[in-house]
Amino acid sequence: MAPNDPNSVPEGVDLERPNPARIYDWFLGGTHNWAIDREFGAKAVETFPIVRTMARVGREFLGRGVQYLADQGITQFLDLGSGVPTVGNVHEIADSVNPDSRCVYVDNESVAVAHSRVLLEREGDPTRHAVIQADLLDVDKVWQEALDTGVLDPTKPIGLIVVNVLYFFGPDDDPHGVIRDYMDRLQPGSYLLTSHLTYDGVPDEGQDKREAIKEQYARSSSPLFLRSREEFAQFFDGLELVEPGITWTPEWRPELRESPASEEFRANPAAASGVVGLGRKP
Ligand SMILES: C[S@@+](CC[C@H](N)C(=O)[O-])C[C@H]1O[C@@H](n2cnc3c(N)ncnc32)[C@H](O)[C@@H]1O
Repeated sequence: MAPNDPNSVPEGVDLERPNPARIYDWFLGGTHNWAIDREFGAKAVETFPIVRTMARVGREFLGRGVQYLADQGITQFLDLGSGVPTVGNVHEIADSVNPDSRCVYVDNESVAVAHSRVLLEREGDPTRHAVIQADLLDVDKVWQEALDTGVLDPTKPIGLIVVNVLYFFGPDDDPHGVIRDYMDRLQPGSYLLTSHLTYDGVPDEGQDKREAIKEQYARSSSPLFLRSREEFAQFFDGLELVEPGITWTPEWRPELRESPASEEFRANPAAASGVVGLGRKP
């Protein structure tokens, strides 16, 4: 499938409205996006120039979190809202630590899923890697389809990854209940790696620009819902928080992998507007 080619739009792709998966791909420097997404991204960057670096900071955290989990001996991953494949995909990092690792990607966006399929067909191992197209809020469906792939062994610990995603869900979606439902299905020793955008403790400088970005997203297919640090902490209820606990995104174990975008926020990590954490099911 040729990226950007209007004649090769995967089935189900909505080109009427910018889409967060494809905007994020553009922020990260990818090519799996269309003019409508690039236009949205460029407008966001014009409004708040660091927004692109913020996206990279989020992606770098994903890499460090997976690296940490793989180093702890976690070999199975369920990645919800996995996005368009780009540099440092979960299965690649996991495989680099343990070549027998397993990973199921889940996304509801056709472009993300189509490109994940192409990548896995080319470079993956169908016994160890799979992608499913589903709404992560439908826990029964996702869990059943993930198990149907035969890739995951539900009797062993799994790393549940929900990174750079939860802020797309409002209170009516009950994201806390959804995450709890997934974690209830996982074995002790499983982990939750997640992140969120917040206003809490974020410097006032640039607040008007953050607000403007939020309004832009509200007009796209996915509005943003920011949460307080306390609301974010509630995603880890019943789990043991792994050191260093809940931190600003650039501050979480920066030594684990090269993280150039995060480095840019070294002096003021709160300015990246993100909080992150890793919890272990006891
Ligand atoms: C900002 S991207 C993050 C991608 C990846 N997790 C990362 O950190 O690089 C958010 C992804 O979540 C996906 N997403 C949003 N809502 C979803 C839903 N209800 N079910 C499944 N995926 C969803 C989007 O399609 C998009 O690919």
